[in-house]
Amino acid sequence: MTSDHSIWASLPVPAFLIDPEDRIADVNSAGEGFLNASKKAVEGTPVWDQIAIDAPIEEAFERARTNGTPLFVNDIDVGSGSRAPLQCALQIAPLLGHPGTMIMIISPRELAGRMTQNHSVKSAAQSAIGMAEMLAHEIKNPLAGITGAAQLLSMNLGAEDLELTDLIVAESRRIVKLLEQVEQFGNLSTPDFKPVNIHDVLDRARRSAQLGFGAHMTIIEDYDPSLPMALGDPDQLLQVILNLLRNASEAADPQGGTIRLRSYFEHSFRLRRSDGTGQSLPLQIEIIDDGPGLPDKIKADIFDPFVSGRENGTGLGLALVSKIISDHNGWVSVTSVPGRTVFRLSLPRVPRGHMDKE
Ligand SMILES: Nc1ncnc2c1ncn2[C@@H]1O[C@H](COP(=O)(O)OP(=O)(O)O)[C@@H](O)[C@H]1O
Ligand SMILES: [Mg+2]
Repeated sequence: MTSDHSIWASLPVPAFLIDPEDRIADVNSAGEGFLNASKKAVEGTPVWDQIAIDAPIEEAFERARTNGTPLFVNDIDVGSGSRAPLQCALQIAPLLGHPGTMIMIISPRELAGRMTQNHSVKSAAQSAIGMAEMLAHEIKNPLAGITGAAQLLSMNLGAEDLELTDLIVAESRRIVKLLEQVEQFGNLSTPDFKPVNIHDVLDRARRSAQLGFGAHMTIIEDYDPSLPMALGDPDQLLQVILNLLRNASEAADPQGGTIRLRSYFEHSFRLRRSDGTGQSLPLQIEIIDDGPGLPDKIKADIFDPFVSGRENGTGLGLALVSKIISDHNGWVSVTSVPGRTVFRLSLPRVPRGHMDKE
């Protein structure tokens, strides 16, 4: 029989044993290579100091440990102190016979190719937005000319032809609306950070939704009254909530549906970034609807610009949500099945000692 030790040493992928206090108990040689550090140097050190992950997995990790179940995380950026993050899959499982100790295997994607592809998709989206902004600006002037001309024409027309000029005017308005959405991206400034009462923002969004696009919806508030202030830009956060409410309202049956606005505190929620920094994001806001759920075809890409599942959609609503939340150093995630779609925002709180201005 081969010894456990030689199996461990021969594993061709980075593998770590993590003790119940989240310290590295052992690392194989591929793992040493991944960290670019010797086993001696890292043994006994906190694992999350050595390995930085661009996702809040701690909660799931803890659950895996408590329940003794394996955890599999696909497609996340994993970094170590000394090198650029790599896209990896993580496999974590409890070590049999050692309660609380976990084994973690990191599989970098076989992908010189895939990484670059991902990158170029991102920058393609970026330049698509840049291009669209430029076009938006250029199209608005001639469009105003066309609308004006149609309105002049309409003065001397009979009812039948009026229909046509009305059509020109109405469609032009629609284009202007689209262009304005595109321009919102360009105009988005960095957030003006201040203490924000999230419940005020949710209330404003709810009221404005019920007067307009969400008049057919029942909106329920489910707030944690002791929620501390968030650190953010109230106007931009309002925009985010409005976009999410609008999507939920548009996805719902025209007869109506229910949206639940939920807030709660989760002090263990931390974001680990692949550059090694971390951030606590304890404020949770969920927008939950009981509509049909995200269309399967676009599920994976809904935060990308120009991805829409609706006939007249621009695909810019969630792209803006994602941009604003990432400018806030926050995190947005979504889970969706028919009957229950949850958009969850995680935000930083106002640091202790920060003067509350409001
Ligand atoms: N709550 C939701 N329920 C079902 N589908 C949704 C929901 N939110 C977003 N979507 C889907 O995601 C797509 C992208 O949304 P968004 O970026 O706001 O663009 P748009 O609303 O212009 O289509 C929508 O077209 C819709 O198909
Ligand atoms: Mg939308």
